[in-house]
Amino acid sequence: MLSTEFTRRFGVQHPLIQAGMAEAGPDIVLAVCGAGALGSLGTIGKTPDQVAGEIAAVRTGTSGPFAVNVVTFDWAPFASRLLDVALEAGAPVVTLSFGDPLPGLARCRAAGVQTIVQAQDSETALAAIAGGADLVIAQGNEAGGHTGRRGTLNFAAEVIEAAGETPVGVAGGIATGRAMAGVLAMGAAAAVVGTRFKATVEFPAPQSQKEEIVAAGGADTLYDTINDEAYSMVWPRGITGRVIRNSFTEKWEGRHAELQEAVAAAGQPYGFVRQLFQAGTTVNWGGESASLVKAVQPAAEVVAEIVREAEGHLRAAAALLALPSGAR
Ligand SMILES: Cc1cc2nc3c(=O)[nH]c(=O)nc-3n(C[C@H](O)[C@H](O)[C@H](O)COP(=O)(O)O)c2cc1C
Repeated sequence: MLSTEFTRRFGVQHPLIQAGMAEAGPDIVLAVCGAGALGSLGTIGKTPDQVAGEIAAVRTGTSGPFAVNVVTFDWAPFASRLLDVALEAGAPVVTLSFGDPLPGLARCRAAGVQTIVQAQDSETALAAIAGGADLVIAQGNEAGGHTGRRGTLNFAAEVIEAAGETPVGVAGGIATGRAMAGVLAMGAAAAVVGTRFKATVEFPAPQSQKEEIVAAGGADTLYDTINDEAYSMVWPRGITGRVIRNSFTEKWEGRHAELQEAVAAAGQPYGFVRQLFQAGTTVNWGGESASLVKAVQPAAEVVAEIVREAEGHLRAAAALLALPSGAR
């Protein structure tokens, strides 16, 4: 049993968070929460009605905590409304990510909602700590989906050192209990896992994307603006999307101008990505930790496996401190 400031503050059994991921719906959230970790509902690209409906569905399925992930800049249709919807629908925890978290953080705190801020740079992490976030996630560049430029370990160490009483979660490259044990040993209060949970039975992504994650090695990802250009998305400075390499990246890497023309010709919203999908390929958001994902599994099995492994590695690490025989 691993007890941290995160498990105590948030009333969650394990110091493990299923990362906010745009597509994540009620099934994955309920499976993760049911297994004793914190599930997170995604909202990017969903309508306010859809988000309200999904929050209601999760609330029906569990009386425990779960998070709703909201991005704090305005590119997607309805993005500016989604925090209102999350608060009105009674989300127990809100995770804010990308852009300036402070206005959203103040609104969540005023509403009495526990708030997590996922930060990609030191300035944002420090602002979130000073602004009273209940947990700050240091998200490293290895992460799947959108992320900043900092490497996970050094960025996490910096945020943990600066955080004082604020618990810190670490995201980016964690798929197994070995890495979870590593970040807990360095002082984190929770491990945040995205890519591995995308490759679960309950995650609403095409089976082909899950299989690409299972097949990918750590070098088979691409952190590049073509991933956003395909969607016509403009993210805050310093934030770029990481995907699993597949036939989309093979065809378009380095061909920015041609890609932008093809996207414009396909029309909006998301005409180009629809065409890709019909042609049998997708933009597959995923990170370097794909190298550690060996199978598509039920989410509860993933939670149990990661936690069990982390406990084993922490026990082994504690044994390193054993006194030499004969010493007292
Ligand atoms: C498929 C996918 C979608 C994501 N969508 C979001 C999102 O909507 N909002 C967000 O804050 N982060 C998003 N992320 C980033 C995750 O919150 C998290 O930081 C990341 O997955 C952690 O790294 P890992 O993939 O190596 O586990 C996404 C990541 C993935 C893999």
